[in-house]
Amino acid sequence: MRNRILILAGLALCLAALTWPVWRALASAPAPAPSLARPVGATRCVAPVGFMRTSHMTLLAEWRDRVVRDGVRTYTDADGRVVTMSLSGTCLRACHADKTKFCDRCHDYAGVKPTCWGCHVVPTATGAIVSGPAAPSRSSRPGAAL
Ligand code: HEC
Ligand code: HEC
Repeated sequence: MRNRILILAGLALCLAALTWPVWRALASAPAPAPSLARPVGATRCVAPVGFMRTSHMTLLAEWRDRVVRDGVRTYTDADGRVVTMSLSGTCLRACHADKTKFCDRCHDYAGVKPTCWGCHVVPTATGAIVSGPAAPSRSSRPGAAL
């Protein structure tokens, strides 16, 4: 009888120890969502907010391919507005002027580290941007005729 109580107590302790991480995770509150600085003066993005939240990286990749591969630099959004497809110029300088309070806050929260900034310029607080030489036209690029 005594043995049985000891065995049961041991099993209960074991179970409690094994499931401890689950209990702890359930008890702790989730990390507060990051507070994002909205653009000043702009009310609409180039696509609905819900789409941008989940798919901005896809849109940026599409923009990159259109510019670099097809030589097309303008994009017409769903509202008929025509914008320049530019990560530094349109996304950052024209709207999300402070990358640290928008892009970075969410990326830090989600543990994402986009590697774009090794090449693409982050505009300064005053809005200045270093622009490179104009890209060659499509027809003058090597291999463009292929
Ligand atoms: C190795 C350097 C390099 C890296 C890293 C890089 N890019 Fe680019 N990207 C370029 C170059 C060069 C162009 C062509 C610039 C032009 O013709 O104006 C370009 C063009 C673009 C364009 C269209 C033009 C513009 O001014 O924005 C987009 C959008 C873009 N890249 C997005 C991205 C994104 C998003 C990342 C990160 C996931 C990224 N790029 C990482 C070099 C790079
Ligand atoms: C609301 C949160 C949020 C905001 C704000 C945000 N991002 Fe992101 N971003 C993410 C998440 C989450 C991912 C990773 C998605 C994945 O890996 O599937 C991501 C991924 C990316 C990627 C792809 C990275 C890669 O290595 O492929 C790029 C490029 C990017 N974001 C650019 C930006 C830029 C530029 C801004 C600001 C103008 C921005 N994001 C603002 C949440 C955000």
